[in-house]
Amino acid sequence: MNKQWWKSSVVYQIYPRSFMDSNGDGIGDLNGIIRKLDYLKELGVDVLWISPIYKSPNDDNGYDISDYQDIMDEFGTMEDFDRLLAGAHERKIKIMMDLVVNHTSDEHPWFQESRKSKDNPYRDFYIWRDPVDGKEPNNWGACFGGSAWELDEQTGMYYLHLFSKKQPDLNWENDEVRRRIYEMMNWWCEKGIDGFRMDVISLLSKVQTFPDGEKGDGLYGNSDPYVCNGPRIHEFLQEMNREVLSKYDLITVGETSGVTVEQAKKYANLDGSELNMVFQFEHAFLNNGPYGKWTDNPVPLPELKEVLSKWQTELEGKAWNSLYWDNHDQPRAVSRYGNDSPRYREVSAKMLATCLHMMQGTPYIYQGEELGMTNIYFESIDDYKDIECIDNYYELTGSGLISKEDMIRYLGLRGRDNARTPMQWDDTENAGFTTGTPWLKVNPNYKQINAASQVHDENSVFSYYKKLISLRKQYPIIIDGHYELLLPEDDKIFAYTRTLGKEKLLVICNFSEETLDCPLGLPEHGELLIANYETQEDGVLKPYEAIAVLTTEE
Ligand code: GLC
Ligand code: CA
Repeated sequence: MNKQWWKSSVVYQIYPRSFMDSNGDGIGDLNGIIRKLDYLKELGVDVLWISPIYKSPNDDNGYDISDYQDIMDEFGTMEDFDRLLAGAHERKIKIMMDLVVNHTSDEHPWFQESRKSKDNPYRDFYIWRDPVDGKEPNNWGACFGGSAWELDEQTGMYYLHLFSKKQPDLNWENDEVRRRIYEMMNWWCEKGIDGFRMDVISLLSKVQTFPDGEKGDGLYGNSDPYVCNGPRIHEFLQEMNREVLSKYDLITVGETSGVTVEQAKKYANLDGSELNMVFQFEHAFLNNGPYGKWTDNPVPLPELKEVLSKWQTELEGKAWNSLYWDNHDQPRAVSRYGNDSPRYREVSAKMLATCLHMMQGTPYIYQGEELGMTNIYFESIDDYKDIECIDNYYELTGSGLISKEDMIRYLGLRGRDNARTPMQWDDTENAGFTTGTPWLKVNPNYKQINAASQVHDENSVFSYYKKLISLRKQYPIIIDGHYELLLPEDDKIFAYTRTLGKEKLLVICNFSEETLDCPLGLPEHGELLIANYETQEDGVLKPYEAIAVLTTEE
């Protein structure tokens, strides 16, 4: 058994609500995923990360779980899940579950008990504090707006929720909480699942004095230094590793906002003591502004190169990278880092894919990225369904900090619903996603952008992704090669090499719509692994051109 198979794997993320609806209620479901397993097999991905499918009142689309060992009604039943797992395994595809254990839903029986009285056995499963001067215990804000503390009338105390008030934070200081979580994880592993993507796992350990934070300190309203990568986080994950992860052959990735390279070396240490890899957010937050992600700042290419190269270089030989442009919380890659105009959409989507997939690490493809799906740019707040978009819109426009017009523009660029519009399967009504009314509007560009038109077209974005995935299986240099950035100062070209023994892989990407003179010559006896134009010209880069060439020293 190749113990580190996750190093050569490609992961595909499914957001089940928007993937495929099998029963016409407008909501994607497990049977819908089953129907599309052959499509995923065709693409060639190794692992599916499925966003939460557990019982949930859906305040945050399943990231608020009320029963960890049951399936959300809209998504189906445990029998459906078992068939999905078997169907995936038959096709040699692994299943990675989303693990959301920083918080539960307030409708989880543990919280229902906990809030009943101060001496309830479950009281200490959550984080309760007395009011201070009749107010919240400290100044921490919640990620979706407002205070991170909610007063519960029944006992006159506040509970902590770093996300919505329907997502109370679990108290990881409590041994019994940890024991119950590990028990639940073992139950899923015994069922035969192949891994976990761990939601906001860097937030588990809070500084127990709960101090006020500096205003504007980070993502979790003033609280970042006291909640991100807290004092006991590595102890907790090492314990989880001993109690669960080390007993099975899994792929694990931690979502670790606020993680530094130094921290990542612990989380994703190659000694296997914690997780296989982490999602870092530095590149995704580069164009943030004074109100966090709500801005129209462009992504600065030199900084993007610097950040991604830092992660490439500093983790090499010590820890393992995950590679991603987008996911269910980020806007569409081609809209953000490329160019989603009809003229450049395909070529820039392929360029981005080349740039990412030739780096060291495990690439993650978010559903629809392989088709070059774009942002939807809703014009009215009423079209949005995401709690983050809606709460931030009303908070920031209500307080007069951002005008409604600007906020709609910012939501169009950065809102999470851009990634959550239904998957575009074909050019029939609702893009073939549902026969009913979709829970979130379908992007009207589905007539042009859809899977049916791409799967059999060898020049499509889909076929390009397919090729990138198969290259990874053929060329060890893509997995193991040493990374080096070229032309660090250039603000339009992202170029690097990978080196392994006598082999060198040269990757050149034009991030602009200009035709450029390229100071990097093409090697004479190179093997062209992949390119997004039919012909290449030495010394010239066409708009959004990408090319990867392999040479071998004699
Ligand atoms: C993670 C998820 C996001 C969710 C949040 C709270 O960041 O990716 O979708 O809202 O955690 O669970
Ligand atoms: Ca359905």
